[in-house]
Amino acid sequence: MLEDKSREIESTRKRWDEHAKRYDEWYETFEGAAEHHVDWELLKGYLPQNRDAKILDAAGGTGRITLPLAKMGYSVTLCDISPEMLNVARQKLLRERVIDKVEILECDVCKLRFADESFDFVLCWDGMIEAAKELVLVTKKGGKISIFLMNKCGAAISKFREDPDSALALLRSKSNYAYDDEKKHLAVSVEEAREFFEKEGMKVIEIYAVCGILKLLSVPEEVRKSRSWDASFFRQTTEMLLRLSKEPSAKGLSRHLALYGERI
Ligand SMILES: C[S@@+](CC[C@H](N)C(=O)[O-])C[C@H]1O[C@@H](n2cnc3c(N)ncnc32)[C@H](O)[C@@H]1O
Repeated sequence: MLEDKSREIESTRKRWDEHAKRYDEWYETFEGAAEHHVDWELLKGYLPQNRDAKILDAAGGTGRITLPLAKMGYSVTLCDISPEMLNVARQKLLRERVIDKVEILECDVCKLRFADESFDFVLCWDGMIEAAKELVLVTKKGGKISIFLMNKCGAAISKFREDPDSALALLRSKSNYAYDDEKKHLAVSVEEAREFFEKEGMKVIEIYAVCGILKLLSVPEEVRKSRSWDASFFRQTTEMLLRLSKEPSAKGLSRHLALYGERI
């Protein structure tokens, strides 16, 4: 069992190490830029007022969110299991002259070695409900958490064409596992996510539907992959995505659920 877990961690590390140099490229496309815009717009409303606050960006990869947080003056701890993803982040932080605001650590988010209540705000944007206990523990009481989870309904919808049995098993709640970026994740519904985090000592503030909605809007692939775009269509698209992320009747459709909560 332990061996299986460490083999899984090793293969995840290898995959992300290999992908590290190309990871940020997707965020230069119309689809990536639109998704980043939505992620950031939602996050902004929850950030601590106090710029001395300590933030943990767990599984933070190439620092997509660490970099703007450091530029705003927050002290950020960026941790990830992939040294190559962290190397890309280090280069960007050096280039932007904010490396002194960031502590970079190579570690597994399921085995964090921080004291309890170390951080005012904790982010983990990698669909890992397995790490929830650790993430809640290191958050100060009254501090906030933002965690991306695999959306059970969204995973079933995207799985159906290739594997109807697995898609239906997810919806029949006979399986809670779905694959994302080739990694097995626990997938949850909005209700299951809420229940899970409340049991861990969190007040769930809001759950948004993020990631993967653009495909459902039938935006053609060549537009989604394009690296230059019409500003007014970008504004319309991001407004549509933001409105849908908050729309209760659309919450089953996305790839991820972005849960925001407060430790009590
Ligand atoms: C999809 S990327 C997300 C990066 C960043 N959070 C973002 O939103 O751009 C997933 C990241 O999670 C990291 N990761 C996966 N499993 C992990 C684990 N158990 N502990 C720490 N990092 C992990 C990977 O190395 C990769 O950098």
